[in-house]
Amino acid sequence: MGKDVIVACDFSSREETMAFLDNFKGRKPFVKIGMELFYAEGPDIVREIKARGHKIFLDLKLHDIPNTVKKSMAVLSRLDVDMTNLHAGGTIAMMEAAIEGLTRPDGTRPLLIAVTQLTSTSEERMKNDLLINESMDKVVMHYAHNAKLAGLDGVVCSPLEAGKVHEVCGSGFLTVTPGVRFADGDKGDQVRVMTPEQAKKIGSDYIVVGRPITAAADPVAAYERCINEFVD
Ligand code: C5P
Repeated sequence: MGKDVIVACDFSSREETMAFLDNFKGRKPFVKIGMELFYAEGPDIVREIKARGHKIFLDLKLHDIPNTVKKSMAVLSRLDVDMTNLHAGGTIAMMEAAIEGLTRPDGTRPLLIAVTQLTSTSEERMKNDLLINESMDKVVMHYAHNAKLAGLDGVVCSPLEAGKVHEVCGSGFLTVTPGVRFADGDKGDQVRVMTPEQAKKIGSDYIVVGRPITAAADPVAAYERCINEFVD
């Protein structure tokens, strides 16, 4: 599995998204479509971007009873996305059902990646709100291991956790890491950040980059810079 840069298209309309992608002319970056754009435009936005030749990570973070997740994953699989995700907190049974639903009659399926604990959840909130009395690190690694047991392909995690996830789950278990910023760039609301080059060194398989590319004066140049630092 090759390393790649995934561009987070965190836009709220088709028009904004297409205007952004039009900048790239011949290039076809791997794009992430999240809840905001998907709920605004529906599955047609996935079909349209796919038809333009992009790979798609559909970031909808499913979390429900196994039967519902299985059936919903079957629908997403027919949309022909390349990668999608769920919450590992839905249990191993839910993740196994997801794999079943995602697998097409010919045996192929999109990559399936688990969210462990959201980075917006602090250890304190996890203890007080969720009554989980373990360290964040232990919980994240345990959920990653559960995802591996269920047959998933990897996890979304901080680049700072990628090395440890590979130690616990093996080097072939994918780490998809947001929180990437250029050394001379604005951190915005991200707290624990890494440059594309550092993420490469620490072993991230995919970096997810939003505003450093989408809000750049020259988005194509910013994308090329990510590719140069992370892939080449
Ligand atoms: O603009 P920025 O580069 O911060 O965008 C990062 C993308 O990764 C956003 O779509 C954000 O929702 C997503 N993400 C994240 N942290 C996580 C999981 C997803 O920043 N833990």
